[in-house]
Amino acid sequence: MPLDRKSAPNDLRAFWMPFTANRQFKSQPRMLVAAKDMHYTTSDGRQILDGTAGLWCCNAGHCRPRITEAVQTQVAEMDYAPAFQMGHPLAFELANRIVDIAPDGIEHVFYCNSGSEAVDTALKIALAWHRARGDSARTRLIGRERGYHGVGFGGISVGGIVNNRRVFGSLLTGVDHLPHTHLPENAFTKGQPDHGATLADELERIVALHGAETVAAVIVEPMAGSTGVLLPPKGYLQRLREITRKHGILLIFDEVITGFGRLGSPFAAQHFDVMPDMITCAKGLTNGVIPMGAVLTTAEIHDAFMQGPEHVIELFHGYTYSGNPVACAAGLATLDTYAEEGLLTRAAELETYWQDALHGLKDLPHVIDIRNMGLIGAVELAPIEGQPGKRAFDAFVRAFEAGIMIRITGDIIALSPPLIIDKDQIDELIGTLAEVLKQTG
Ligand SMILES: Cc1ncc(COP(=O)(O)O)c(C=O)c1O
Repeated sequence: MPLDRKSAPNDLRAFWMPFTANRQFKSQPRMLVAAKDMHYTTSDGRQILDGTAGLWCCNAGHCRPRITEAVQTQVAEMDYAPAFQMGHPLAFELANRIVDIAPDGIEHVFYCNSGSEAVDTALKIALAWHRARGDSARTRLIGRERGYHGVGFGGISVGGIVNNRRVFGSLLTGVDHLPHTHLPENAFTKGQPDHGATLADELERIVALHGAETVAAVIVEPMAGSTGVLLPPKGYLQRLREITRKHGILLIFDEVITGFGRLGSPFAAQHFDVMPDMITCAKGLTNGVIPMGAVLTTAEIHDAFMQGPEHVIELFHGYTYSGNPVACAAGLATLDTYAEEGLLTRAAELETYWQDALHGLKDLPHVIDIRNMGLIGAVELAPIEGQPGKRAFDAFVRAFEAGIMIRITGDIIALSPPLIIDKDQIDELIGTLAEVLKQTG
């Protein structure tokens, strides 16, 4: 018996697309129907080279057999298990496996379903941790201008991207922001920029303004991805760590993008050799296949909650799908794939080749900066006067037509290919982008 539908299946009206120019898309859809390894297939049968690992998440490439099989097997064996007051083995196994590759000192994993939830979870743990230790005046949260911490109210409050904040009311109170680290004198730097470490000292000013005893946590992306790839100046993260430690403030690294090999180490904390108190992650945790996020914490954070009567819940927080069995199966198979193929360090091996290719775009029209590290890169274009974002958007549409997937934020093109990319594919990606940029008006 056919369903009584109000619309045809190929009618694009009903789906209100996220972070999308809906009207442009629906007039000229970019429809993806299949994916394998480094490529997507479009509905009109074209192959698109993936220059962005989907949305910074398919670090092992697409439809990898181990992950596909693990998900298929798990969904047939146990599709769901209650997340509260119940457990299943894969959730514990995956937590241990994450701890194994995380920076020394990280010992616990709290599951959620996305980067946004991981951020809100970490902020809540920070507030509750101080309170558990009798330090309940510590309620202020500090983020950074141009930071992206997802779209929950906590995340947009500490985040610093104006379009993600301005129409959503007054947000959380008691939030302050560090200055961003995008300095013109660092233009065309290869790797970490030389200038800007002292921007971390602004934290001293903010702490002096409010009193250290009121500040709970600082959250930053060790490398800011979504705003258009801003690398930490040399010494900057070390300085943030020193200042937060000095004042008893927790430091949270949002590693939703940098986690799982993007910079050439499992986590950016290891790459920069700076140890935060908590790490948020998502995306590459399951290779993007099943939604999953996590907050990683030290024993010091976790153990402070393990007090009081044993039958009482220690942290009143969690999600219906925290540690979902199918997501855990995907996570375990993803970590196996990363390990078998050496993907968590592969970005370091390809970094010089990637960097040289990317900086080869320097003299193309409207290019005002190029930034890179690991297997991540950004090409910043001068905006068209009065039409910010238009130049990069046109490049994005043309790039898709030319067979490559790139990402844009404002007039910045960001690249973050799957970590399985080879040198010929780097040449193809950057060569096609060069042709697109040559035609950019
Ligand atoms: C650093 C960072 N934090 C949080 C998020 C939000 O993740 P999600 O879209 O899974 O909620 C993102 C997404 O790009 C991110 O880059």
